[in-house]
Amino acid sequence: MNISFADISLAKSGALAVLVTEGAALRGAAADLDAKTGGALKRAMKAAGFSGKVGAMLEVMGPRGVNASRLILVGLGKSADLSAAGLEKAGGELFGRLEKSKETSLSIVLDGISGAKLPAGEAAARVAFGVKLRSYRFDKYKTKKKADDAAVSLKSLIVMTRAAVAARRDYATLAKIADGMFLARDLVNEPPNILFPGEFAKRASALSKLGLKVEVLGEAQMTKLGMGSLLGVGYGSQHESKLVVMRWMGGKAGEKPVAFVGKGVCFDTGGISLKPPAGMEDMKGDMGGAACVTGLMRTLATRKAKVNAIGVIGLVENMPDGKAQRPGDIVTSMSGQTIEIINTDAEGRLVLADALWYTQNRFKPKFMVDLATLTGAIMVALGKEYAGLFSNNDKLSKQLADAGEAESEKVWRLPMGAAYDKQIDSQFADMKNTGGRDGGSITAAQFLERFVNKTTWAHLDIAGTAMASPKTATNRSWGSGWGVRLLNRLVADHYEA
Ligand code: BES
Ligand code: MN
Ligand code: ZN
Repeated sequence: MNISFADISLAKSGALAVLVTEGAALRGAAADLDAKTGGALKRAMKAAGFSGKVGAMLEVMGPRGVNASRLILVGLGKSADLSAAGLEKAGGELFGRLEKSKETSLSIVLDGISGAKLPAGEAAARVAFGVKLRSYRFDKYKTKKKADDAAVSLKSLIVMTRAAVAARRDYATLAKIADGMFLARDLVNEPPNILFPGEFAKRASALSKLGLKVEVLGEAQMTKLGMGSLLGVGYGSQHESKLVVMRWMGGKAGEKPVAFVGKGVCFDTGGISLKPPAGMEDMKGDMGGAACVTGLMRTLATRKAKVNAIGVIGLVENMPDGKAQRPGDIVTSMSGQTIEIINTDAEGRLVLADALWYTQNRFKPKFMVDLATLTGAIMVALGKEYAGLFSNNDKLSKQLADAGEAESEKVWRLPMGAAYDKQIDSQFADMKNTGGRDGGSITAAQFLERFVNKTTWAHLDIAGTAMASPKTATNRSWGSGWGVRLLNRLVADHYEA
């Protein structure tokens, strides 16, 4: 999708959309178009009962008096309720309506569209952002691609506004966020025979061209570091496990970094505690946490964020095999703590245990936020609307909750505490890797907390939000890229110089 910004001109050919707020009489560009068409817009509005309600669209095909092949009025609802999210949604819905319409170009006019905290330039940029997010496709494995491509006709968008300069500037940042989200979506969508740990590490390494420092640790190095918890998960796999460290040092020299840690299980069969077949293919997305961290690091680098940020991802494949780890095995983590394996399908926490310990030990970060498709139980609790938030810190929790509301990637905090922690005590080792059915997402978080060593920390359980996402106005992709927007805002709002 080619996206650009221009001043308002009603002489465009192709599809021409005008965003209008609810109730008010047609003004500005909309009134001009009505005049040019000899009143066709007003007549159509009356006939269809269109008043500009949120989500309403009115299309006039082949109108007289203008070059446009069709005019589309798009309702934004009450002007007092205008929001960035609402404008993104309008952009996404408009793209959805026109992508296969045979139109190749769309112009969207925003005339006098702005809100209390939403200047006209940003409003226009948000519409473009919505179009961009909706236009994401993952069709590289479709060999009948040509035929499909022909069906998607819409190739270019011009957003017309009197604040084109500001819109261009605001959109430049949003496009970098979108690119980070698209990288995360791509990684989650890739099949597991292609995206195994080594290949994931290679794609992360490619980000070094953006100014990120990327290190890849293999099994020999992790063995030296004593990462018996992470390494045990990969024993059954033909693919070498990897730990990738990405560093973006855009902040002051010597300033403590912020750190993001991702679960990267490139495929989760459950291991010897094998999962049932139905839906197992979805476990290619069990690296959604690592994908988010990678996409986020990309966004921070491309927008040259004034922050020191570390991204650490643990990449493994969980397979059943003669060499695979067994229930009953006891492994020793890098922290020195021993873990009795009860269920080899509770592998994400084993990967994160060493990744978290390594991160705090090496970088002494201000905080660590980990993301993991950790438990099915989080979907029982929260569905796909909210990710689970667990934390040892109220301030960081509040910052994450606020950022989530602002970016429509919502998080809901769940409790932690000693009673839950007791559920993972083991009779043979320092702890066991499952705590039973009750409070399954919470005991998983308790397990992680044993590896953060008092560092300020938050854990996001994204099993419900990273993959198999409900289709929304701005996302049609199976892998959502969830978390990139949220964490980018966390950094931008609180941790940039
Ligand atoms: N990757 C799964 C969690 C998951 C399930 C993510 C469904 C996305 C969709 C995780 O490794 C897992 O298998 N968790 C187990 C833990 C249990 C064995 C304690 C689960 O949730 O059943
Ligand atoms: Mn599992
Ligand atoms: Zn898993």
